[in-house]
Amino acid sequence: MGNIVIVGSGHAGYQLAAALRHAGNDDAVFLVGDEPHLPYQRPPLSKDYLKTAMKPEDLRFWSEEQFAEKAIERIVGVAVTAIDRAAGAVSLSNGHRLGFDRLVLATGTRNRVLAVPGGDRAGIYSLRTVDDAERIRAALATAASAVVIGGGFIGLEIAATMAERGLPVTVVEAAGRVMGRVVGEAVSRHHERVLSALGVGFRFHAKVAGILGPENLGSTGRVEAVLLGDGERLEADIVIVGIGVLPNQELAVASDLAAGDGILVDAGLATADPRIFAIGDVARHSSLYASAPVRIESVQNATDQARLVAARLAGKPAGAYGAVPWFWSHQGSLKLQIAGLGHEADETVLRGRPEDGAFSAFRFRAGRLVAVESVDRPTDHMAARRLLAGGTMLTPGQAADESFDLKALAMARPQTA
Ligand code: NAI
Repeated sequence: MGNIVIVGSGHAGYQLAAALRHAGNDDAVFLVGDEPHLPYQRPPLSKDYLKTAMKPEDLRFWSEEQFAEKAIERIVGVAVTAIDRAAGAVSLSNGHRLGFDRLVLATGTRNRVLAVPGGDRAGIYSLRTVDDAERIRAALATAASAVVIGGGFIGLEIAATMAERGLPVTVVEAAGRVMGRVVGEAVSRHHERVLSALGVGFRFHAKVAGILGPENLGSTGRVEAVLLGDGERLEADIVIVGIGVLPNQELAVASDLAAGDGILVDAGLATADPRIFAIGDVARHSSLYASAPVRIESVQNATDQARLVAARLAGKPAGAYGAVPWFWSHQGSLKLQIAGLGHEADETVLRGRPEDGAFSAFRFRAGRLVAVESVDRPTDHMAARRLLAGGTMLTPGQAADESFDLKALAMARPQTA
């Protein structure tokens, strides 16, 4: 029996611990996490958590008793500070050391910080943890006007919630359209239109010059407005910053493991040191759906990578990581589902019409389907996942033709991932 140390108790770390036991592994498993909570689900934090009276414990994957039953040792509120590869041990922030036979880095990402004058005033929030969500929910209860900086998943999900409550809100986006990292133009524009109709204001190609407060209180006073580069002043007593993330790769870098916007791993998710793996948002890996290695920020990726490494560590055949990436985002009444990776697409066709409120954007690279972005079309999304998994040939013409039976084509092929 050996020691498996998992660094990070987010989605990937928890899933790995659970999947190890499910796969029949009986090594000693240590789940080390710097958050003070039992592992919990993050997706509701930017959605239902802000709208309801949900409590932190409602989000938990497992209770204390379940971890004990599975003999998973949780080391809570403690960070791993260094990896000693020669000795096969990690140092902990509580001064202890922990030996490992296998080490899995599931350290995730951290929010990018908005470095502008006044950026640390009271009333400015970013969202990552359940504690952040608690603070934002409390602030929303009394807020009179809001600015959201960053028109990505976090920004739009929160802006939609604010607008639904009748709170005036403006999204300030550096790029020319929303969610540019993950979707194509058609879906960006549709979301912009629907959210505008809900009452969300947008400023594109915008730069935040500073966050203003009471003049005589320096940067410690409460936020009163956001100042844009063109001189516009947007009144706000609450500001949400959602400008993307950075991978927590420093431990790997400090122990001479290759990293560059993510810890580099091979097809089996191992680093150059065969005892050390990386999974989830922090791992950069090759993908069937992109020409260069990618780092994927999603629950699906965390779960599937955890399962693959668990199988490997349980001595089962695991093969190469090849799961179809998929994502979802709920923004007001908009239900967006994405299958595949569209960032390299060179051709897009629509199935259905945006003006009808439900459509899918089928995205191709060199004639091959690479991603499908569906707005309120769950059957397209499920078909897309199967088509991508099977590598099934679909032409742009077939995708755009609503009389073409997509589901039949998808079902005709065995699902391989
Ligand atoms: P994101 O990368 O999705 O979006 C960040 C947005 O901020 C981009 O549109 C970018 O152009 C913009 N931006 C960057 N710098 C800016 C600046 N200085 N001023 C104005 N705009 C700027 O990241 P986001 O929304 O912060 O989400 C963080 C993480 O949480 C991601 O990993 C995301 O995938 C995850 N998440 C996923 C959700 C989902 O899958 N439904 C929901 C919420 C969060």
